[in-house]
Amino acid sequence: MSETLKVAVLGGDGTGPEVAAEGVKVLKAVANLENIKVDFDHFDDICGNRYLKDGTVITDREVETLRGHRSILLGAIGHPDVAPGILERGILLRLRFEYDQYINLRPVKLFPGVETPLKDKTPEDIDFVVVRENTEDMYAGIGGWLKKGTPDEVATQEAIYTRKGCERCIRWAFDYTRKRNNPKGKMLTLVAKTNVLTYGHDLWWRTFQEVGAEYPDVKLDYNHVDACCMWFVKNPEYYDVIVTTNMFGDIITDLAGIIQGGMGVAAGANINPEPGGTSMFEPMGGSAPKYTGKNVINPIATINAASMLLEQAGYQKAADRIMKAIVHVTGTKMKSQAAGKMGYSTTEIGDLVCENL
Ligand code: IPM
Ligand code: MN
Repeated sequence: MSETLKVAVLGGDGTGPEVAAEGVKVLKAVANLENIKVDFDHFDDICGNRYLKDGTVITDREVETLRGHRSILLGAIGHPDVAPGILERGILLRLRFEYDQYINLRPVKLFPGVETPLKDKTPEDIDFVVVRENTEDMYAGIGGWLKKGTPDEVATQEAIYTRKGCERCIRWAFDYTRKRNNPKGKMLTLVAKTNVLTYGHDLWWRTFQEVGAEYPDVKLDYNHVDACCMWFVKNPEYYDVIVTTNMFGDIITDLAGIIQGGMGVAAGANINPEPGGTSMFEPMGGSAPKYTGKNVINPIATINAASMLLEQAGYQKAADRIMKAIVHVTGTKMKSQAAGKMGYSTTEIGDLVCENL
């Protein structure tokens, strides 16, 4: 590939800029080794501090400029002095929706050397992927109040599911399962709550069966979301790929994140798989305000996100090189994945990954 990969860097709040800088460092190093032309544009203004100064969350112009980039690397969104929801809805969700990033891909992989709270589970046992629908459900922002602030107040928050929305996500998940080609057998598990959400999740169930008929090589499996939470803890080795709704995907990937070693390592990709689509890659952890500026936060999740960015942009070999270097660094160097306990600083971890590419 000879075109230039344009990456927008959105460091955001708290420790976000620190981890994003390590992601950029590793991307530059691997691009150099693999002869990939990559350009970085920095959008440092999109953060809680600017909002506190002038009330701007993100401008329409910024949304359009960012759209011109195939890939966005995001640090973290969330500021302790800004009311919950303003930045999360205003930046993160707005970008996911504006760019129609209908896949939220969250690999759950225990790297060697990383501690899991699950007794007796090893990297062989914890290695599955969650495909979360990323544009619908209760996240769509449909609802409202009646008689707000009175004793008779009514609030609604509707879960929206469309045939198009669930079908494109389910189809992508089947294709992904095929591509992943698990040697233990290809299996896609639909996680929903068909016994209670008998309209919306019935649509998901029917679509899953219909699309699944086109993939005879993939085993179709189903879990209720509550049971799935139990099995994540009891036998995570059961899973290959999971496809689920936006809300359930949000919740189960925090549980999955902690069994893979926590927010220091877990990463996610918000993908628009269509040609020319803009995708966004992020560590799953938050802005960790108390660690800001201390050079102690773990950048592995962001470096992991950088690997996903390259994979999505078609640079598989470069993506694999990053993953191998991560595994080397977690497996043989780092003492812990917790902030301040890694045995190295944030920037030193970035350097170590670069040295091991
Ligand atoms: C996540 C986060 C977001 C979500 C929030 C910050 C809006 O929890 O990426 O999982 O719920 O999707
Ligand atoms: Mn979440």
